[in-house]
Parts: sequence; structure tokens; C-alpha cells
Amino acid sequence: MSNKARFTRNILCIGAGYVGGPTMAMIAARCPQYRVTVVDVNPGRIDAWNTDQLPIYEPGLLEVVKIARGRNLFFSTEIERGIGEAEVIFVSVNTPTKTFGAGAGKAADLQYWEKTARDIIRVAQSDKIIVEKSTLPVRTARAMERILDANDKGIHCEVLSNPEFLAEGTAVNDLDHPDRVLIGSHETETGIGARDVLVEIYANWVPRERILTSNVWSAELSKLAANAFLAQRISSINSISALCEKTEANVNEVGRAIGMDSRIGNRFLRASVGFGGSCFKKDILNLVYICETYGLHEVATYWESVVAINDYQKRRFVQTMLRVMFNTIAGKRITLFGFAFKADTGDTRESPAIDVARKLVEEQAHVVITDPQALQNAEKDLAGCRSQVTFTEDPYKAAAGAHAIAVMTEWELYKALDYQRIFDGMEKPAFIFDGRNILDHRELHEMGFNVFPLGEAALKHF
Ligand code: UDX
Ligand code: ADP
Repeated sequence: MSNKARFTRNILCIGAGYVGGPTMAMIAARCPQYRVTVVDVNPGRIDAWNTDQLPIYEPGLLEVVKIARGRNLFFSTEIERGIGEAEVIFVSVNTPTKTFGAGAGKAADLQYWEKTARDIIRVAQSDKIIVEKSTLPVRTARAMERILDANDKGIHCEVLSNPEFLAEGTAVNDLDHPDRVLIGSHETETGIGARDVLVEIYANWVPRERILTSNVWSAELSKLAANAFLAQRISSINSISALCEKTEANVNEVGRAIGMDSRIGNRFLRASVGFGGSCFKKDILNLVYICETYGLHEVATYWESVVAINDYQKRRFVQTMLRVMFNTIAGKRITLFGFAFKADTGDTRESPAIDVARKLVEEQAHVVITDPQALQNAEKDLAGCRSQVTFTEDPYKAAAGAHAIAVMTEWELYKALDYQRIFDGMEKPAFIFDGRNILDHRELHEMGFNVFPLGEAALKHF
């Protein structure tokens, strides 16, 4: 039987990264009637998607991939062929922050997106629905439409915005049971037609009332706004953590008290050494840049302060370490528990641990890093200072002989370690800086540790 007869739709995704891979795996697993192909310019990535060692660590993802791989889910480097065959093309290539020219350090670098649009229109022989999955600045779809429309083949590409809200570590559940799916389209006949196709795809497993439709610009902006709001909550509680440390208030108690106000809600109120991840900082700076472009300087300054507080929190964390360890950490062994930007992922993009490790190295400490999933990435992130950094998967070995431990990632395993054994093997006085407030601080203090939680009084022996 030909593919055409076997499958009712042919879906392509360009970009096999953190967003494209899991999203397509879920569509393929839930919709056996569609053929789903994921393509990428990186052959190593594609090879990995075709093995059981997936290129990203995500709990439950391999099981979902295995449901569909080889049945109706295919990973390939044949981009042109994929474009030629597909009717719906998701684009989830990377959109990093620009590092050069106008808007450097803030604006999104759209070169990969634009190249993809040009690839599509060069190869296409029929009308296509193009779905923006990558997070993009509001009104990117307009630029893409101009590129896609500039063809003399009489081909029409309808651009939809369908931002992805999945979070790493919980991606499978977020995709399977999303709070909402957002689809932005033009209110034209072709726009509504394309939107209905995408609604139908998601409706295979997402309840209809959770599938929202809007205009394209609202969908693009909603993604940036959602991430900005989430990051703002973390910077808000982190700013309060600094005040708690001065006033003997306890940030966990404050977080609980304000979170029980149903207008505020209790999620995303955990004080930390700072937020990381590929999205928050990038998306806020993107928002800031767009506001500046439109002359909205006060709005830009407001959102920029969310990033400023995050930088302050990381700086403050290291300053506390330095101050309490007698103003010198030169030559001291300091162990970082965790390097991933959050638990249950091997991703280290924008991880606060990167900044903390670099600052400790600047102070000439010897930094030991342990993490159950992120060591490979950590080695790349710290390539510039390898002589002062050691990596080991075993937390006991990592802590042996250390003057201090700093918890960077809230991995469950760090809660259950034998801290008496760790204490016995450390230099004295032994310090713990809990950058995630996950440990039992009183118990550690009783063992002999000097404990420095975030946003609450330190428990010291001096
Ligand atoms: C985020 C958004 O949640 C997701 O919707 C979007 O699609 C992509 O960006 P992600 O970056 O995977 O997802 O992780 P998230 O769970 O949002 O955490 C981001 C950072 O904030 C992590 O470093 C995390 O440790 C930190 N965080 C989160 C806190 O410090 N405190 C909290 O209370 C919550
Ligand atoms: P995200 O977190 O947004 O998914 P990633 O960096 O994890 O971002 O993934 C983006 C993927 O897009 C990478 O694997 C990269 O190789 C791929 N990519 C970038 N440009 C192109 C392109 N022009 N054609 C195909 N794939 C591309």
C-alpha cells in the first residue's frame, strides 16, 4: 500500500530539538493515521533519534517514541524530500539571541528561521500549512509570509502560530495533557481553513475546550508573555528571599502564605539560585527589544528588571559563599550538587550553575561538579576553565575533601544522600549552601554543617 493510502495526513517537522522531537513523537503516538517525519540538518541528532539513546533526556519520552517510530514516525536528514511530501510543516528550528549587529544580546536571531522559509519555498510544489513552533518575536509571521509569498509557482503557504508551552522534565505529560493548545491564524478563508486542520490534529487527544484560537499576533505574543510572567514570579520571590535573609523572615513561609491566595496561586514561587533554561531570559530580552523598537521604554525597563534580579540572585549567592567562608575560597574545593538548569533534564542552557561555577573559578576555587544527567553538557559549558574544574557522577566522591557543597539543581537524589558520611569526609568547618532549599537544614546543622539556605536564617556553629 502506498503512503498516501495508508496515511490521511503527511506532517513534517523541521528541527529535531527539545521542542520538535517530543512534540512530533506525541502527535505520531496519538494519531497513527498520520505520517509524521522529523528532519534536521544535524545528522548526529537524527541518528540518535533513531536509537534508544535519544539526543535529549526527558522522562517517559523513549516510551512515546517507541510507540510510533518506524510505524508512522520517522527521523531523517532528507529535508527537501520531507518538504516536497508534506502538507503541514511545523518549524521548530532554534531562535537564539542575536550575538552580533543590531539588537545583539536581546533580539532573536532569525537566520535559521528565514533559511527554513527559503528552503520550503524553493522546494515546494503545492500549497503548505506552515506552523511556527519555535518561540518568535511578535509579527515574525509577517516576515515569513513575505518570503513565502515571493514565489512565481502560484503556491500559497498559510502561516499559523502554535507556540509550545511544554517544560523540560515534564514534556511528555505537558504534551499529553496540555493546559491549553494555542493556535493563531489569520481570519481569512485560507487562514481559517489551515487553523481547522491544526485543530483537528490536536483534537485527536486534547479536549476541544482546551484548544484556543486567536489571531496570529496574539498567539506569538502570548508565548513571550507567558514566559515573562513565569520568570517574573521567580524573580519576585527571589527578591523577597534577599529581604528575608536580612529580616529573619522565611521565604518558604512567605511563599506558602501568599500562594494560598487563590488570586496569586501557589506555583512558581520557589526561591532559587536563579532561573535558567533556554527560554526565560531569551524570551524576556526579546520582549524588551520589541518594546524598545516600538518606543515603549518604560515597558522595556519593567521586563528587563526581571532578568536583572535573576543576575543579582546568582551574584548574591556566590557573594554569600565568599563572605561566610572567611572572604577567601582560593584553593578551596567546592562541590556543586547538580548542574542542569532544573531537575529531570540534562539540559544546562542558561543554568545558574554555569555562572556560579565561573565566579567560583574566578575566585580561584577548585570546583567539583556532579550531576546525574548533565555532566557532558557541563564539560562543554566550562571548556574555558577545565584546569580548575573536576566532573564526577558520584556525589560522595564529589564531596570528599570539599570545604563546601552548593546545591544547584533540585534532583530528588540529593535529598536522600547519607549526609553524615558526606560530612565525615569533608574539610572542617563544612558548609552547605542550599540554592534550591531542598535539604533538611536542621538535621544537617545537628550533624555539624554550617547551613546557608536561601531566604531564611543561616544555621551556624560560629
Ligand atoms: C519554560 C516554561 O515553563 C515553558 O512553558 C516554556 O515552553 C519553556 O520555558 P522550562 O524552561 O523547561 O519551561 O522550565 P521551567 O519549569 O519553567 O523552569 C525554568 C527555570 O525556573 C528553572 O531553572 C527552574 O529551576 C526555575 N524555577 C522554576 C524556580 O527557580 N522556581 C520556581 O518556583 C519554578
Ligand atoms: P528548541 O529548544 O527550540 O527545540 P534546539 O536547539 O533544541 O531548539 O533544536 C533546534 C534544532 O533545529 C537543532 O537540532 C538544529 O540542528 C535544527 N535546525 C536549525 N536550522 C535548521 C535548518 N535550516 N533545517 C533543519 N534543521 C535546522
